[in-house]
Amino acid sequence: MDKNFYITTPIYYPSAKPHMGHAYSSIVADFFARFKRIQGYKVFFLTGTDEHGQKIQRAAEKKGMEPKAFCDEISKTFFDLSKTLNLSNDDFIRTTEDRHRKSVENLWNILENKNEIYLSKYSGWYSVSDEAFYSEDEIETKDGNKISKISGSQVEWVEEESFFFKLSNWQEKLLNFYNDNPDFILPESRKNEVVSFVKSGLKDLSVSRKSFSWGIKVPSNKDHVIYVWLDALTNYISALNYPNIDDNLYKSYWPASLHLIGKDILRFHAIYWPAFLLAADIQPPKRVYGHGWILSGEEKMSKSKGNILDPIEIIETYGLDPLRYYLIKEVSFGNDGNISQEKLENCINSDLANNYGNLCQRVISFIEKNLDLKIPEKYVLKDEDLKILKVYENLFDKLVDSIDKQNINFYVNFIQEQLFAANKYFNDQEPWKKKEDLIRLNTILYVSLELIRKISIMLYPIIPNSSLKALKIFNITEDTIDFNSIKYHEILKINDKLNKISILFKKIENYD
Ligand code: MSP
Repeated sequence: MDKNFYITTPIYYPSAKPHMGHAYSSIVADFFARFKRIQGYKVFFLTGTDEHGQKIQRAAEKKGMEPKAFCDEISKTFFDLSKTLNLSNDDFIRTTEDRHRKSVENLWNILENKNEIYLSKYSGWYSVSDEAFYSEDEIETKDGNKISKISGSQVEWVEEESFFFKLSNWQEKLLNFYNDNPDFILPESRKNEVVSFVKSGLKDLSVSRKSFSWGIKVPSNKDHVIYVWLDALTNYISALNYPNIDDNLYKSYWPASLHLIGKDILRFHAIYWPAFLLAADIQPPKRVYGHGWILSGEEKMSKSKGNILDPIEIIETYGLDPLRYYLIKEVSFGNDGNISQEKLENCINSDLANNYGNLCQRVISFIEKNLDLKIPEKYVLKDEDLKILKVYENLFDKLVDSIDKQNINFYVNFIQEQLFAANKYFNDQEPWKKKEDLIRLNTILYVSLELIRKISIMLYPIIPNSSLKALKIFNITEDTIDFNSIKYHEILKINDKLNKISILFKKIENYD
């Protein structure tokens, strides 16, 4: 079985500092990366910044800066955010790096040599904000402005000499590819959108621009810069040392297991990218998953709309793990989600502080008082104990499968249910009344510890810092944590010393 897993976030435009939408893509990608690692996979997790093109050039001009200096400054804020979010990425790629330029030039040369690219003239609509070409029927007029019906962003008329990629040649081959790889695009609803778009007919794609200079030059014609999406998408192979296809990274991790992206950039990833790759005889990625948007009010957050939520501010107020938990739990994955302070505080108080933090605290304090912080010695499992322990074994395959289909909601709901069940177990069993019946007392505490261990392991991909704090009880560390062990309940070693636990989450006091 393939035990390597390559996951990517989109590479972000460093046109302005990061917001919650960017944090969301990254946190969810980190969730998958961490999950696969504790499942025993070798994981390569990539993120970075997309630094060329007109959008960036204009943003730099507005600040009166050279584009590279401008990118250096803002790319750093994305890099810093990757640390603040505790991302476990293995690399951070910038498209202004030399390794990337070489990789893009190589891909371009292959496409040109294979006759997939020709020189002609583009005249049509272009959105600098989306860095996308739109056809006449994708444009409407609003308040006197021409805008894209798809994204709502402003478009301008462009007429210039341009290289074209023969995308129209790939229509049938792409449809066959989607057919042969039914899970290539998820969720299903987005796949249907893509398939009907491709069926409606693909036109050749303009893949170079001549009217500005901020980009990678076309190797055979330095008057042109390569279209920023062809440039940007190539990052996914540049980071694996493409064009050196004998390199270990490339051999181990390409084709990518999962490109996690927002739904707005699906066309680029699910149509253009596989077409470029197929045309260059490179295998397309295994999956593209288009998640929903984080909305602020009813609208997608964006700088131009001025409705940005700053992840750093939220983290300073509430802490990182509560934000990670909230975004992963509250946003139904694949759909749009609204962010609200009230719901975030509710999550912290009920799920994290009450259900999880308290459970750990109560069980450990009880064991400290009654068993000198040792793993209970003698226990005899009854039906009611086995029932709650065995759920993990019974649902194990389903849990793994749900993650492999990016069904995060199933995974998170399971954790929530098990947190309730574990608290209920401890309350119903009333160990404080069983001090005379040592075997039963030990059994209840053993089971409770096992539940804390299993739930904490399951929480690790979502709230790694807090989960590791809890797993310290058992001396389980990031290097020894093993998802597969949640199946079993004879893991804890009798009489081993447990560690105390500090408070995991503080309740938000002003909330009732
Ligand atoms: N640079 C391109 C991606 C190139 S990938 C080869 C780009 N950058 S972006 O900075 O505009 O957006 C990056 C990602 O952030 C996209 O997946 C986008 O969907 C996501 N988000 C931006 N705003 C968002 C929300 N408000 N909510 C959720 N994610 C959204 O596109």
